[in-house]
Amino acid sequence: MAERSIRIAMNGVTGRMGRNQHLERSIMAIRRQGGVELPNGDRVVPEPVLVGRNPEKLEALAAEFGVDEWTTDLDGVLADPDIDVYFDAQLTSLRAAAVRAAIDAGKAVYCEKPLAEDSATARDLARRAQEAAIAHGIVQDKLFLPGLLSLRRLIDSGFFGRILAVKGDFGYWVFEGDVESPQRPAWNYKREEGGGIILDMFPHWQYVIEGLFGRIRSVVALGKTHIPTRWDGGEPYEATADDAAYAIMELEDGTVVQMNSSWATRVYRDELLVFQVDGTHGSAVAGLRGCRQQHRSATPRPVWNPDIPNPIDFRAGWLEVPQVGEAKNAFQLQWEEFIRHVTAGTPFAWDFSAGVRGLELVDAAWRSWQERRWVDLSEVSA
Ligand SMILES: NC(=O)c1ccc[n+]([C@@H]2O[C@H](COP(=O)([O-])OP(=O)(O)OC[C@H]3O[C@@H](n4cnc5c(N)ncnc54)[C@H](O)[C@@H]3O)[C@@H](O)[C@H]2O)c1
Repeated sequence: MAERSIRIAMNGVTGRMGRNQHLERSIMAIRRQGGVELPNGDRVVPEPVLVGRNPEKLEALAAEFGVDEWTTDLDGVLADPDIDVYFDAQLTSLRAAAVRAAIDAGKAVYCEKPLAEDSATARDLARRAQEAAIAHGIVQDKLFLPGLLSLRRLIDSGFFGRILAVKGDFGYWVFEGDVESPQRPAWNYKREEGGGIILDMFPHWQYVIEGLFGRIRSVVALGKTHIPTRWDGGEPYEATADDAAYAIMELEDGTVVQMNSSWATRVYRDELLVFQVDGTHGSAVAGLRGCRQQHRSATPRPVWNPDIPNPIDFRAGWLEVPQVGEAKNAFQLQWEEFIRHVTAGTPFAWDFSAGVRGLELVDAAWRSWQERRWVDLSEVSA
């Protein structure tokens, strides 16, 4: 059993996602467990090189995590033949240029979603990656969450019969910044800086919906900027991006998916993201971690009568779906797959073509909102 290393240049690790999910909970966690096991029993240990703009922040981050190398010289890192993988978790508007440079340098590339700010740019990156014959991948973390893995088991076991409809509810209150500090970066609320909930969240909805339920044929969407003024570091600014979006999608097999996304809603659900799936033989409610099901044989018999107190405890009639296997961080699980793909050539389904599809849903939703009509995804795919 041999052990080897893979050197990964990680750009954007001073940000929320880069630091928490990718550096701390994925790459450092993989190092702590002794690397990733390959099919032949060998192990690969990732060696991160932190890349960014601010030397003080990078030095402090490197010291905190015990990482030996950091740099502010992206070009230098891409020119270094000892770097195997370029990873990008910068803010969205900077991704395409950096990913293009990494492809040109012949690196394997893994990056956060969305791949770019529109599907045409994403398609160009996918074509370049294909032509350069590099390994490429895009984060699709929600598919690896315990709640959605349980939902997949229900689907695969035929539990639902024919799936009729899916209701997705995502969101929470993001503080405006005047009284309480905001819990998300200000660029998320500025269209001109790559913000907006449609660009941020619809790439997720695309891979969750198409990964679990089938191909999306058509979308109708309405975006809103509910909160027009927000504050960053005590200074007010105009929020130019959508902070909520209300969408209905029809899948190719006729399944209806409704998807609410909002940073201006208060939570009265068990989790920040919840899907209810209704099928002829059963229904399920899946969140990030939990999943409950109700079979047709256990379905209560409600009778509409608002003149008496509700006689049924609806929530009591659902069964928790037991989790299979150990729950690991969703980002770590996908990183492990990508590292195996790069080093051992194992299949990896979530490449840049998957990233393109996410942006096709974004482009179709935007067009629907602007033109106030249903838009087929075929209208925005080349
Ligand atoms: N997979 C997920 O669930 C998920 C969740 C949130 C965000 N994201 C994606 O991750 C990426 C980063 O989002 P985040 O919330 O971590 O953002 P963030 O603002 O916290 O981090 C942005 C990173 O980009 C760097 N950066 C480089 N140039 C910059 C510039 N000119 N201005 C500002 N920052 C600059 C920052 O230093 C920082 O490291 C986005 O593309 C976003 O879509 C993914």
